[in-house]
Amino acid sequence: MDFYDVVRSRRSIRGYKDASIPDEVIERISEAVNLAPSACNMQPWQFRIIFNEELRTKICANYSQPWLKEAPAIVVALGDSENCWKRPQEGTPIVDIDLAIAMEHLVLAAASEGLGTCWICAYDRARMDKALGIKPPWSVLAISPLGYPAVPARDIERKDVSETVVVVK
Ligand SMILES: Cc1cc2nc3c(=O)[nH]c(=O)nc-3n(C[C@H](O)[C@H](O)[C@H](O)COP(=O)(O)O)c2cc1C
Repeated sequence: MDFYDVVRSRRSIRGYKDASIPDEVIERISEAVNLAPSACNMQPWQFRIIFNEELRTKICANYSQPWLKEAPAIVVALGDSENCWKRPQEGTPIVDIDLAIAMEHLVLAAASEGLGTCWICAYDRARMDKALGIKPPWSVLAISPLGYPAVPARDIERKDVSETVVVVK
């Protein structure tokens, strides 16, 4: 698929088929994550693509929406807030930005493979970390279902591009 077709067709998917994902698709998506840029190339993330039933149950127990259970895999995006680049003046870690870029690489690669995803951050992070045995400086910064969509992409409004992107010549 053309890049702009991928960007246009990608939507958050909240309903999944019970269909397995070929290993080579997972490999291509993993490569896309690994190619994401990060501050000073530190790659302060680890993406776990969880097919394991027991672990998926633990993740779903910490998220309110039932459709997460339908996906054959759940992506757990871990960020390392210590071993990442920090803004020199403020000392604030840049891990959220780095991880968001890598996550969106995954999301767009998945879309180009015909797979659905949905960014999820609306969970109790401390509880999710504990449930999965994740300890500081690592934390589960986002999760996403990964699987073939069982529902159509929803139409969604966006602000006018003139509001969100200003070209200054
Ligand atoms: C950082 C982030 C966190 C999000 N968290 C959730 C979430 O917890 N649950 C959910 O259903 N959707 C979540 N979303 C999906 C947004 O609701 C969705 O991207 C937005 O409504 C635009 O729709 P679209 O992705 O279909 O274009 C999140 C998206 C982002 C980027």
